Amino acid sequence: DGGRLCNYNNFWCRVRFLRPILNSQKYFKAHDTDIIVPTLPKSGTTWLKALTFSILNRTICSINQSPLLTTNPHDLVPQLELKFFANLDHEKNIFPTSPRLYATHVPYHLLSNSIHESNCRMIYICRNPLDYFISYRFFLLENEFESEEKHSLSLEESFDMFCRGIYPYGPFWDHVLGYWNAHLKNPDRVLFLKYEDLKEDIVLNVKKIADFMGFGFSEDEEKRGVIEEIVKLCSLENMKKLEVNKTGVFSGSVIEVKNCSFFRKGEVGDWANYLTPEMIERFDKITEAKLQGSGLNFKYSDKDI
Ligand code: A3P
Repeated sequence: DGGRLCNYNNFWCRVRFLRPILNSQKYFKAHDTDIIVPTLPKSGTTWLKALTFSILNRTICSINQSPLLTTNPHDLVPQLELKFFANLDHEKNIFPTSPRLYATHVPYHLLSNSIHESNCRMIYICRNPLDYFISYRFFLLENEFESEEKHSLSLEESFDMFCRGIYPYGPFWDHVLGYWNAHLKNPDRVLFLKYEDLKEDIVLNVKKIADFMGFGFSEDEEKRGVIEEIVKLCSLENMKKLEVNKTGVFSGSVIEVKNCSFFRKGEVGDWANYLTPEMIERFDKITEAKLQGSGLNFKYSDKDI
């Protein structure tokens, strides 16, 4: 899998994504009102897309008529870099929204200058690196990408690449630290979320996200249970059983992805079922060195939450 990656400015990206990323750097014009959801894939992107979309559009369309019931969240909140594949009008945006809502996997230091220079806000979500790694592995195994992309590496080989930072949009730690440091510098501009925290208290986090977006809930909405409705709509259990997410295919780019592969277990600590003590020891040393002094830490088990 690593053979199809290239290094660009200290980050690893799939060769076929390089041009779109460069194009998005060059051509994307950010608006001050834009809201960008940057993530590493498998860190809670789908969940955060569904939540931000629902928060933003809740007055335009009631929850029980939400497009999320019939559309994959990835078709509703476009990935910025996918917009810049040739001839691809990926946006099926039914709603003339302002703010515009976009997602991206690009690391902070490689976002377009237009984003850096604007006042647009970002909502970053990350996840403990071990669950991230396992989730990504299942995602690759589940999808028969182009033959060149088949995930032919063993778990050990793949973990070795991960530890060396040679992983899509990696090194993992650098991606997370880029947004973490941006958040520390300007918390009004970058909201920093963790998947495990959302699992622990989703209502609190939905309120936090809505406030940050400038779309906070009124007292009346709180009384009417709008937050709980959004939480339920966007829950893994609900999204997983929707027909579109069971049988549909996401084809927003040159690859096709089974919608069902975005929804798996959603557990904290699943990595413990797959990784050996030796792997963990190696990983711990790297993580300690990488995160030292940053003030950033992760929760690795549901006992921690
Ligand atoms: P697992 O593979 O551990 O189950 P992404 O959306 O960034 O691709 O991340 C996918 C991971 O988030 C998967 O984790 C998936 O099960 C989980 N996930 C997807 N939708 C979710 C939701 N609505 N709520 C909670 N977790 C969700």
